[in-house]
Amino acid sequence: MRNFEFLSPTRIIFGKDTEKQVGEQTKNFSKHILLHYGGGSIKKSGLYDTVVQSLKAAGVSFTALGGVKPNPRVSLVRKGIEICREQNIDFILAVGGGSVIDSAKAIAAGVPYEGDVWDFFRPVAEPKEALPIGVVLTIPASGSEASKSCVITNEEGWYKRSMNFNILRPQFSILNPALAYTLPAYQTACGAADIMAHVMERYFTNEKHVDFTDRLCEATLKTIIYNGPTALKEPENYDAWAEIMWAGAIAHNDFLGTGRVPDGASHKIEHELSGIYDVAHGAGLTVVFPAWMRYVYKHNMARFEQFAVRVWEVDSYFDNPEKTILEGIQRMENFFLSLGLPVTMKGLDITDDRIEEMAAKATERGPVGNLVKLYKQDVYEILQSCRK
Ligand code: NZQ
Ligand code: ZN
Repeated sequence: MRNFEFLSPTRIIFGKDTEKQVGEQTKNFSKHILLHYGGGSIKKSGLYDTVVQSLKAAGVSFTALGGVKPNPRVSLVRKGIEICREQNIDFILAVGGGSVIDSAKAIAAGVPYEGDVWDFFRPVAEPKEALPIGVVLTIPASGSEASKSCVITNEEGWYKRSMNFNILRPQFSILNPALAYTLPAYQTACGAADIMAHVMERYFTNEKHVDFTDRLCEATLKTIIYNGPTALKEPENYDAWAEIMWAGAIAHNDFLGTGRVPDGASHKIEHELSGIYDVAHGAGLTVVFPAWMRYVYKHNMARFEQFAVRVWEVDSYFDNPEKTILEGIQRMENFFLSLGLPVTMKGLDITDDRIEEMAAKATERGPVGNLVKLYKQDVYEILQSCRK
C-alpha cells in the first residue's frame, strides 16, 4: 500500500426532508448567493420552491441562474462568473446533478481569477482560491457532491476537460434519496453505471496489499448491482435510493482510492465521446469500460480474475484464468444491458467515424491510464472495438 493523504471535508447531510435545511446551512456562509440549476426538473418536482422557501426563511437572498445543460458548457460558466462579480456574490448553491455542481465549481474558481476560466482546463493555470459552494443533490451518479473534480465542455472545439483541486470540494451536500424518485429510468441507469465506473477506476491498479480498499470497492459495486435494478423497478423505493446515493458519494470522494493509484483511462476516453457527441456520461462509460477491460486484462490477470470471482461470482476456472476473466466482463456487460444501457457506439446512435480525432484528443497531453499506459494507437483500437 502506498503512502497517502486523504481529505474529504464536505459536510454530508443525509436523509428524508433534509433539503429543508438548505437555508440554515447556507446562511453560515452568505446572505446573498447564486442559486444555480439545470433545465427545469427541479421546478417540475417542486424542489425549487422548497429551496427558495428555506433560503427566504433563513434570510438569504439569491440570484437564480438556471439552464445548465448535461455536459455543462463553459459559456454559462462565464455568465455565472459575471453575475457573481457584478453582484458581489460570494457563495454558490448548486441544486441538481453533476452538471449543475460542476458548473457551480467552475464559477466558484473563476470569480476570483483574473484570466479566463478555461485556463484551468487547458490547463495553463491553477485556481488558488474559490468561492465556497453548497449542493442539494438530485441524482446519484457523478460523485461531484463530495469530489474535487469539475468537468466542463468548451463549445469551441467540443473539448470536455476536467480540473481536480481540493478547494473545489463543496462545503456541504444535502443528500435526500427521495429527490431521485423523479429521475427518468435512463438517467437512473446512467447514474448507477457512473458510480460503478468510479469504483472500477480505483479497483484496477497494479498496487499490491490493498485488500481493505479492494473489499470496500467490491462491497460498493455489489451495492449498486443489487440496488440499481430495484430503483429502476420501484422508482419510489427509498431504501434502494438511500443505498445508491450514499455509495455514489463514497465512490468518488477518494476514500476507495487510498493507498493506490487509480487508473482513469476509461473516463478520459469517455469524455471525448460525451464531449463530441453530447451523450450521457454513464452511457458512454458502459461502452468504453468493457472494451478497455478486454484490451488491458492481460497486463494484470490476477486482478481481473479477482474482479470476476468476487464481484460477478464467476466460478473460477483454475486452469483457465482467461476464461474466468472474460466471463466476468461478459456478466458486467449483460448487467449494463439489463439496465437498458448501450455497450456499443451503435447503441449510442454514433455511426460516423471520428475515432481518430477522439484518440488524438484523449492523448494530446500524453498517454492515459495507470494500470497500463495507453497511447493514441491503443485508444484508437479500444474505440474501434466499441463500434460493432
Ligand atoms: O437539467 P436538469 O433539470 O437538472 O435535469 C437533469 C438532466 O437532464 C436530469 N435530472 C437530474 N436529477 C433529476 C433529473 N430529472 C428528474 N428528476 C431528478 N431528480 O438528469 C439529466 C442529467 O443530469 P446531469 O447533472 O447531467 O447528470 P450527472 O449527475 O450524471 O452528471 C453528469 C456530468 O458530471 C460529469 C460528467 O462528465 C457529466 O458532465 N462528471 C463529474 C464528475 C465530478 N465532478 O466529480 C465525475 C464524473 O466522472 C463525471 O465525469
Ligand atoms: Zn464518471
